[in-house]
Amino acid sequence: MDRKPLLAGNWKMHTNVQEAQQLAASVVQAAAKVSGRDVMIAPPYTALTAVESTISSSGVILGAQNVHWEEKGAFTGEISAAMLKDVGCEMVIIGHSERRHVFGETDQMINKRVTGALRFGLTPVFCIGETLEQREAGRTMTILENQVRAGLDNVALKSGSHLVVAYEPVWAIGTGKTATEAQAQEAHSFIRNLLADIYEKNIAGQIRILYGGSVKPENIDILMQQDDIDGALVGGAALKAESFERIICFQ
Ligand code: 13P
Repeated sequence: MDRKPLLAGNWKMHTNVQEAQQLAASVVQAAAKVSGRDVMIAPPYTALTAVESTISSSGVILGAQNVHWEEKGAFTGEISAAMLKDVGCEMVIIGHSERRHVFGETDQMINKRVTGALRFGLTPVFCIGETLEQREAGRTMTILENQVRAGLDNVALKSGSHLVVAYEPVWAIGTGKTATEAQAQEAHSFIRNLLADIYEKNIAGQIRILYGGSVKPENIDILMQQDDIDGALVGGAALKAESFERIICFQ
């Protein structure tokens, strides 16, 4: 099944408004050089509106880095899917390893966020991944299966294009240590089979699975050649215009 590649930049807690607009403008220019692929950027909340105005006449997709499951209410510090839609977001990263490990988010919270995002028409970029300790103990696939089943528990999909999964091995995030293309493909193929067990075949076949963890200009081409790698979720290298351009223009 044909899945359109998605190159996504997670800017994490970086950029003020001016820096965000400059970087977004360079992403617009880079994205215009290629066709047949989607490009998404997820700036911090404070820059969403400014970035939206910079990218509005391009095909670049606006994403956020987290979302609360309720529409509104007494949830100090949280942002709802309705609010993200209001400022032009189409996608939202959910369950990133930093949310899980630094902020203690559980599979149950992540499941509620996925459900909440979908209810308001946002496409979740649902992140999963094992730690180094879990990989070394031979538990990678068990961990991935538990995260997928819990995070997608009771999540109905009308189309596979409404969900993106990102496989981000925790040990590869921000460490410069990328999974080999074989390690990534093995995990992606496992996740794809799992999705086919949960959803109808045609829906599962449409769900894009991104790889994340030290993606850079030097490894994007080989990663994108793998059958089940449909794109990348990029941290550090998405903050530099030149390197993200090279990633968008993978060959
Ligand atoms: P790095 O690309 O900096 O390793 O970060 C990956 C990531 O966490 C993307 O969400």
